[in-house]
Amino acid sequence: MRNLVSTPDKQAYVIVCGNEKGGSGKTTTVMHLAVALTNAGYKVATIDLDTRQLSFTRYLENRKIWSHKRGIGLSQPDHFSLGQVSGDLISEREGEELEQFTNIVSRIERTHDFILIDTPGHDGYLMRLCHSMADTLVTPMNDSYVDFDVLGHIDSETGDVTDVSHYAKTVREARRHRRRVDNGLLDWVVMRNRLTQISARNKENMLQSLKDLSMRLGCRLAEGFSERVVYRELFPMGLTALDDMDEETLGVSPRLAHLSARQEVRALVATLKLPIDELGRKRAQARRTWLENADRPIQDMGVLAD
Ligand SMILES: Nc1ncnc2c1ncn2[C@@H]1O[C@H](COP(=O)(O)OP(=O)(O)O)[C@@H](O)[C@H]1O
Ligand SMILES: [Mg+2]
Repeated sequence: MRNLVSTPDKQAYVIVCGNEKGGSGKTTTVMHLAVALTNAGYKVATIDLDTRQLSFTRYLENRKIWSHKRGIGLSQPDHFSLGQVSGDLISEREGEELEQFTNIVSRIERTHDFILIDTPGHDGYLMRLCHSMADTLVTPMNDSYVDFDVLGHIDSETGDVTDVSHYAKTVREARRHRRRVDNGLLDWVVMRNRLTQISARNKENMLQSLKDLSMRLGCRLAEGFSERVVYRELFPMGLTALDDMDEETLGVSPRLAHLSARQEVRALVATLKLPIDELGRKRAQARRTWLENADRPIQDMGVLAD
């Protein structure tokens, strides 16, 4: 198992979306990151480790179906999910899952630029393992003290951070493991999700608590996504705020909210500082040219020009 993270010529950059809390926006975020990177021309593999919900898998299936129905060539990552396991004991089931996961990763770690992993909202062996493989860990959290508590505890009178919580300790352990194995660093980015127009004072308090917490945890903060109906509406079509916002793609007229959502997703990608280079831009251009010309008669492509 160690060679997953110790292989010196490992090429894929691993992004994990994790938080020990359901409904914080992991699947929504990882889907947007996957589309951001495939649209930019990278070879992206995605893995759904939430074997109970499989929302990421369904999101991507919806994307394939919608793309086919509308004939609109949406970019797709190469997606993998774990199959059913049959063991009676937890240890047996974990062993089967581990074997599947190892097989998937060994198939893609040298063939893809990025591996994006969605995780379930609870602790488990695979969850901890994939955190220790991550180059970037993105943790979305709803803008409330209930979600905050999953990362750290605060003093109710002073608002000071008094302790870090279970999930933060899991990440700390993953970091230690990673350093021991290949001296790699985990860039942990906590992003606020479903930001609403709550009172300015409440917002300011939350931001201050988060800043304190980020110093304790060694993580960076990203502004994240506002509460927007579009994030929910796009799931059945498998679309993201980064896809073309025309009526042909959306099936309805685009709204201002689509563009606002797109801006915040782009801001998140910029904050993550991923290794996105010239090569990726060239690939993206080649792909766009290919797509533009794929449906045209051959003369239009200039091949038969004098
Ligand atoms: N910024 C947002 N605005 C509105 N709805 C959101 C936002 N982020 C997530 N949601 C919705 O919240 C629910 C939970 O999000 P999801 O990404 O599935 O979380 P997780 O994977 O952490 O369980 C989904 O219905 C999703 O569409
Ligand atoms: Mg999910």
